[in-house]
Amino acid sequence: MKLFHKKLELIDHLDHLRKLGSDIGFVPTMGALHNGHLSLLKKSLLNNKVTVVSIFVNPTQFSSSTDLSTYPNKLKEDCSLLKTISDEILVFAPDSKEIYGDKMYVNSYDFKGLDDFMEGEFRNNHFEGVATVVELLLNVVNPDTAYFGEKDFQQLQIIKSLETNINIVGCKTQREKSGLALSSRNHKLSLKSKKIASNIFKNLTFIKSNISNHKIEELTNIVSDKINSFDQMNLEYLIIADEDKLVPTDSINLKKKYRAFISVFVDGIRLIDNIALN
Ligand code: PAJ
Repeated sequence: MKLFHKKLELIDHLDHLRKLGSDIGFVPTMGALHNGHLSLLKKSLLNNKVTVVSIFVNPTQFSSSTDLSTYPNKLKEDCSLLKTISDEILVFAPDSKEIYGDKMYVNSYDFKGLDDFMEGEFRNNHFEGVATVVELLLNVVNPDTAYFGEKDFQQLQIIKSLETNINIVGCKTQREKSGLALSSRNHKLSLKSKKIASNIFKNLTFIKSNISNHKIEELTNIVSDKINSFDQMNLEYLIIADEDKLVPTDSINLKKKYRAFISVFVDGIRLIDNIALN
């Protein structure tokens, strides 16, 4: 494993490997790595000679300063975890100055409506921050392929819509046995809250099983009530939208693919998840 803090050193190293004919896979992360991140890395290791992971908690994509300041920072543990899957991974862990220079900024984008609902609606400028940092990181690493999780499906679609010549690959959501989607935020939950949070996925599977025999509005009302019946849970949104345009719908057209998207505060911790419906 090699650790780089400076982009020029990483660029030099990758130039050398590229000249030897290596293809490069890239997994951008904000660290506090778990098996969800590792599943993306395993896919990259399987399909590329060289795999780079970036670990950078990107300030411009956070809407709340508390969320940013309490975001876990565990570079040492992350490196130990990475070593359990391969000795060959290149780790890029820059500071903000290395990424943004002296002043942080976000670019403006026309995401063509992909950011109108869900995370785009509830987290101000979130996707501008994500797209800006992803473009900056892609410019440094210049990979053949970059891997992103379906756990953040809207993010995946927005990154696919950016004008890059990089192959963007989506990877399945990894879950705990209980169904709870793995997330760096889960460690903020008490054991009891984690148990309650497993109802998020249970309710998503309930929607999937009942989508053909209920009206969408009925189904989302039933599930919203179920989630809110727990004192510890507070539903932020539950939306059924098509995968391509991410526009909410109240009826299913069998020619299109749909997902249910959910955001819930569990004891004040914001968790998101989604499930493919057809
Ligand atoms: P982060 O939340 O660290 O996630 C890094 C990558 O891991 C993302 O592509 C995310 O979708 C994926 N991931 C997270 N949990 C997962 C799970 N349970 N199963 C499968 N994949 C999972 O997403 C970000 O960081 C940032 O927005 C980033 C793209 C790095 C830009 O700052």
